[in-house]
Formats: sequence, C-alpha cells, structure tokens
Amino acid sequence: MKKILITGGTGYIGSHTAVELITENYKVHIVDNLSNSKIEVLSDIQKITGKKPCFDKIDLLNKKETDDFFKINNDFDAIIHFAAYKAVGESVAKPLMYYRNNLNSLMNILSNMQKYNISNFVFSSSCTVYGQPDMLPVTESSPIKKADSPYGNTKQIAEEIINDFLNANKQLKSISLRYFNPIGAHESAHIGELPIGMPNNLVPFITQTAAGIRKQLKIFGTDYNTSDGTAIRDYIHVVDLAQAHILAVRRLIKNENKNNSEFFNIGTGKGNSVLELVNTFEKVTGLKLNYILTKRRPGDIEKVWADTSLAYKELKWKAKRTLANALLSAWNREKIYRGIK
Ligand code: NAD
Ligand code: UD1
Repeated sequence: MKKILITGGTGYIGSHTAVELITENYKVHIVDNLSNSKIEVLSDIQKITGKKPCFDKIDLLNKKETDDFFKINNDFDAIIHFAAYKAVGESVAKPLMYYRNNLNSLMNILSNMQKYNISNFVFSSSCTVYGQPDMLPVTESSPIKKADSPYGNTKQIAEEIINDFLNANKQLKSISLRYFNPIGAHESAHIGELPIGMPNNLVPFITQTAAGIRKQLKIFGTDYNTSDGTAIRDYIHVVDLAQAHILAVRRLIKNENKNNSEFFNIGTGKGNSVLELVNTFEKVTGLKLNYILTKRRPGDIEKVWADTSLAYKELKWKAKRTLANALLSAWNREKIYRGIK
C-alpha cells in the first residue's frame, strides 16, 4: 500500500484529498498545526471512508518539530503539500507572516524530502500566478505576471524554489497544480469548507448569508467588462480538484512525468460571473439571498478561466461536476454543520 504524507490535510482541500486517497487504497498520514482547521475533521474523514488517517500536530514553520517528525516518519511514496495561509487581504496586511509561513514551511519539507530521498512532491499552486492574463483561457505557458498580493507572490516564489531545488536534485520530482477557484463539499456533507472567522471567499460567504450568520452578501464590482458587469472566475468542485491530486501522485509514482517539474491548470475551463453564481445558488436551493451590488474589491482581477487541455492530455483529468452540483453540496454541508433542517 502506497503511503502519502498530506501537509495541511485537515484543511478544506486537504481533507477532500485525504478521502479520495483513502478510497483509492492509499495509506494517508496528515500533518497540520490546526491554525485554520479542526481536529474533528479526522473523525469526519473516518465517517466517509471507515478509516481514520494517522495524524501529527506539527507546525511546519518550526524546523526542529518538522525534522523530528521526519526522523521517525520518512517512508512516504509522495508528499502533497497543502499547508499554507491563503487569505489574500490578510497577506497584504501581514506580508511577513505570509512569506514566513508559506515559504519556510515549504523549505522545511523540501530539505527533508532530500534528506530521506522521498521522490515525489505535489504542490498546491494557484491561478493567481497568472494575474490578469492577456489571453483567455489561460494556458500553463502564459506569462507569470507580477503578483497582486504577498499571498500570490508566495505561490510564484514557491514554484521557483521548487524548480531550483529540483534542478539541484534531479532524482526528485514535482507536480504543481494551479487551482482555479475551488468550491463545494463532499456529497456526504461530512466535510466541506469551514473558514474560521469571517469568510473571504465568495461561496462560504453565500452559504453563511443563506444560513443567517451574515446579514448580507456584497457583490464586489458591477462595472467589469463582462456580460453582466460582475467578475468572472473558473469555479471548480473540490472533489474534482481532489481527484486531480490522486492522478498527479500516480503519475509521479509510476514515473510517467515528462520532466521533473511539471505544472497543470486545474479548473473547469468555463468562466462564471458572480451574479451567475448567485442566481444558480438561488435556483438549486430555492432560497432568496440577501445581496447588494457594491464597488470593486481592491486587488481583484476582471476575469480568468483555465485552459485544461494539458491536464487532460497528461493526467487524463477533467472536471466532471457542475456548478449547480458544487453549490448545492456547499449548502448541504453548511446546513448539516449549523444544524439547519
Ligand atoms: P485551508 O486553510 O483550509 O487548509 C490549509 C491547512 O494548512 C489548514 O488546515 C492549516 O491549519 C494548515 N497550515 C497552515 N500553516 C501551517 C503550518 N505552518 N504548519 C502546519 N499546518 C499549517 O486552505 P485550503 O483552501 O485547503 O488550501 C490548501 C492549499 O491550496 C493552500 O496552499 C492554498 O494556498 C492553496 N490554494 C487554495 C485555493 C482556495 O481558494 N481554497 C486556491 C488556490 C490555491
Ligand atoms: C483569491 C485568489 C486565489 C486564492 C483564493 C483563496 C486572486 C486573483 N485570487 O481568489 O489565488 O487562491 O483567493 O483565498 O488573488 N466576491 C464577492 N463578494 C464576496 C466575496 C467575493 O463579490 O463577499 C467576488 C470577488 O470579487 C471575485 C469572486 O467573488 O470576483 C471570487 O472571489 P474569491 O472567492 O474571494 O476568490 P478570488 O479572489 O478569485
């Protein structure tokens, strides 16, 4: 049985990936410092899969803690590195916290990969590396634009660190998955996106507004050059995204990669505006959302969606689930979590 280390595995995308890996018969070991997730997620994963992953509470920023973990646990077939801070606005206010956490954690992991010759690494990157692309849909060979935020910059720098590291360690391999906008929850509704405090992202804000926890959703910007004036993103169901990680891990373990550092866009290939998303949410849930149209949020780009043909060609991956399906699953999770009938 292949053994996979998931950093940040109690978080949103990590927990869904843990479920998919366990379902595919991988042995999963999670490390997380629980700065943005809860320990209960482990039991929730067990409710879905029948198995509780191994878990260690480790702060990957702490080199000694990380090194001590690897002294005992180093027989992994692959590492999937999710652990990072991800709030764009917070990164503008606290840049050093973001650079320190997102980059030092990465380097602490990579140095142990090298030390114990753990060959395979999958990295959580983001479409934010493209900024506002000149051409849409955006392909992996589109230029990397100057980052709009310290968070975005950590993803760009992380990709460069990985490239330089692999140049010096040709026996090691990595796949960076550039996620577009992950939304939704597992169909069981046992796990989902549970931001601690005020959500920054659109879908948790919508479900919390529908649940009555937030008074009103603000739609940021109505004067974009799009069909209805609101910004466009490529919203990808988190379970589809999780499955891309399984294919990336498999490709690396089977040595099917074309070079030792690869990059793939993981999106649906389709853009939806904020208003389209709100309307779809209302339609699938039968609820009326309290929202207002307001001015643009600083730092937001106008539109982005993915060209996913490379992921299809090389990983044989493509998104299967619909926007309606993702929004309904997010609402089902919110209802169960809040005890709403
Ligand atoms: P999340 O916050 O739900 O999960 C991240 C997990 O990492 C959390 O459980 C947190 O406690 C943990 N963590 C953070 N710092 C740590 C540290 N120093 N040591 C140990 N654990 C630590 O976020 P997510 O949405 O699941 O995102 C996972 C990854 O995907 C991140 O790298 C994020 O930047 C990237 N990403 C997310 C999105 C998105 O919209 N959700 C989009 C693109 C890329
Ligand atoms: C951002 C980052 C992305 C990062 C992700 C994780 C950029 C370009 N993208 O995505 O890399 O991984 O956050 O946090 O920096 N919106 C509203 N009202 C709200 C919230 C959002 O109208 O209350 C709108 C936004 O203006 C945007 C869309 O909804 O047009 C999606 O926003 P959000 O979910 O925050 O994701 P991004 O900003 O696209």
